[in-house]
Amino acid sequence: MRIFKTKKELQDYLETARVNQQKIALIPTMGALHAGHISLLNYAKPLSDITVCSIFVNPTQFNDPKDLEKYPRPIEQDIALLEAANCTILFLPTVEEMYPDQDEKWHINLQGLDEIWEGKMRPGHFQGVTQVVYKLFNLVQPDIACFGQKDFQQVMVIEQMIKEKALPITIALCPIIRDDNGLALSSRNTRLSEQGKQQALALFRTLQFIKNNVQKIDLAELKKMATNQLETSDGIALEYLAICETTTLQEATGIENNKQYVALVTARVEDVRLIDNMILN
Ligand code: PAJ
Repeated sequence: MRIFKTKKELQDYLETARVNQQKIALIPTMGALHAGHISLLNYAKPLSDITVCSIFVNPTQFNDPKDLEKYPRPIEQDIALLEAANCTILFLPTVEEMYPDQDEKWHINLQGLDEIWEGKMRPGHFQGVTQVVYKLFNLVQPDIACFGQKDFQQVMVIEQMIKEKALPITIALCPIIRDDNGLALSSRNTRLSEQGKQQALALFRTLQFIKNNVQKIDLAELKKMATNQLETSDGIALEYLAICETTTLQEATGIENNKQYVALVTARVEDVRLIDNMILN
């Protein structure tokens, strides 16, 4: 695996690849890699000649400075995982490399997708995400970019950016990787105790409950029951639970057969913010 820390090295390498008509896949991450991240890489491999994984803890998407500071950065372990998974290139820039202009301004119209759910709980988060992903798209000019369903709203936001900026990039939406008990893998899980991990399983159980009953119970009633399940679960501090239509992320009032729905949930366990979701039909 080649490791590039500067935009120049990365661009020089990719220019040659492009001349040789090689297909480039981008997997943007913030590191502390786990099997969820590696699944994106494995998804990309058969669809591309070159896989570029980026590791960059992007300061502009953190609305809470403590969260940014506490974000795990086990870089040696990350490099070993990417080597073992046969990643072609690791792009590992510094903050100065990605944001040479400290006063840089960024705003993109995301059709309100950045103002609901995660966006409402974390003001500015999706503007920060799109700011850095747009930079990465410009640098790498990938044919395909892989994102996890784990951050469902993030994928919808990126799709909206691609539409708005008319970028010639295909987005792959990759399934959520869970541990054997159903807990969605997350870099933040390393901050949970064993008890916290057990308590966090309530999120998965509630999502399954919603999925199993979405055709049977009136949606308003189902949401009430599911919310109650979480609010009465030990150790869970619920932030939001919603059943939404997938493209607009507007809350659904009923199920129409020609539309797709997703249940979104976010809660704190041991003060660690966990996010999960499940496609319902
Ligand atoms: P990060 O949280 O590191 O996630 C990188 C990618 O891995 C995202 O597309 C995320 O959805 C995916 N991912 C995380 N956990 C997963 C799991 N359990 N199963 C499947 N995929 C999973 O998301 C970000 O970084 C950042 O916002 C980023 C897009 C890199 C911009 O800074």
